[in-house]
Amino acid sequence: MNSSAARSHPVAGLRAPVRECGGPAKSRWPARMDLAQSLSGLALGLFMWGHMFFVSSILLGKDAMWVVAKAFEGYFIFGRSFPLLVSFVVGGVAALLVLHAFLAMRKFPASWRQYATFGEHRRMLAHGDTTLWWVQVVTGFALFFLAFPHLFQMLMHPAAIGPYESADRMFSGRWWPLYLVLLFCVELHGGVGLYRLAVKWGWLQGSDPAAGRRRLKTLKWALTVFFLVLGLATFAAYLKIGYEHRDRVGEVYTPAWVKPAETAR
Ligand code: HEM
Repeated sequence: MNSSAARSHPVAGLRAPVRECGGPAKSRWPARMDLAQSLSGLALGLFMWGHMFFVSSILLGKDAMWVVAKAFEGYFIFGRSFPLLVSFVVGGVAALLVLHAFLAMRKFPASWRQYATFGEHRRMLAHGDTTLWWVQVVTGFALFFLAFPHLFQMLMHPAAIGPYESADRMFSGRWWPLYLVLLFCVELHGGVGLYRLAVKWGWLQGSDPAAGRRRLKTLKWALTVFFLVLGLATFAAYLKIGYEHRDRVGEVYTPAWVKPAETAR
């Protein structure tokens, strides 16, 4: 087959198939998309760690969670609340999540045969990291559906974040099933994702890669267990407050030391 025939494609205008030698240069786009997927995953993973600490401030008391919610509304900078600031952050996180999901979809098995082949390999290899990749795919798929109702609620009702408001949503609003499944999906997905990033880019591995990977895996599981325990304690705290507050749903929480007029939105 001569080179001009190799370079042309029977259908006019379509890019000629990549040939190993003498063919057109390989596209850099797959590598760029991989890098963008890693960076967006890293940003989302670190965001989720911060998010869990902010949401779990309820464990320090209602006033502590009120202060955190108000801080994100600019209350302690501008002297009054601007819930729209929270919507901007939510919009940014949602855009990052859409980009990450779009880039990650490339890695999903695309046919029954690919799923079957992957399943066979996973069972045959019984290799921890291969199974973790499968956990990534399953939890990633679930997050397509579970993350966006939560983000839309936060985007459209940023002012409805507070000790009573969040607890009422969890208990009386019956959002708790979504949060419970979302909590496990996001902590497993984020934990495995950050571990795979460290392995992929050779972070924190030291001079002995095998020992480094064992250390990373231990750290990964320790962090996942820590955030799941923190998340479940937070979840239980919101449910308890929501149950105790079930007859006064809609009441806005104001700390005793704050004059109601000061918190006007
Ligand atoms: C800037 C964007 C976000 C904001 C402002 C936000 C805010 C909140 C707030 C205020 C709560 C307490 C419950 C409530 O008020 O309904 C909460 C809980 C939760 N959020 Fe988010 N969230 C954001 C993004 C996300 C994302 C992207 C995920 C996962 C993909 C997520 C997962 C969760 C989970 C699992 C809980 C329950 C926590 C628990 O009970 O332990 N959030 N979030």
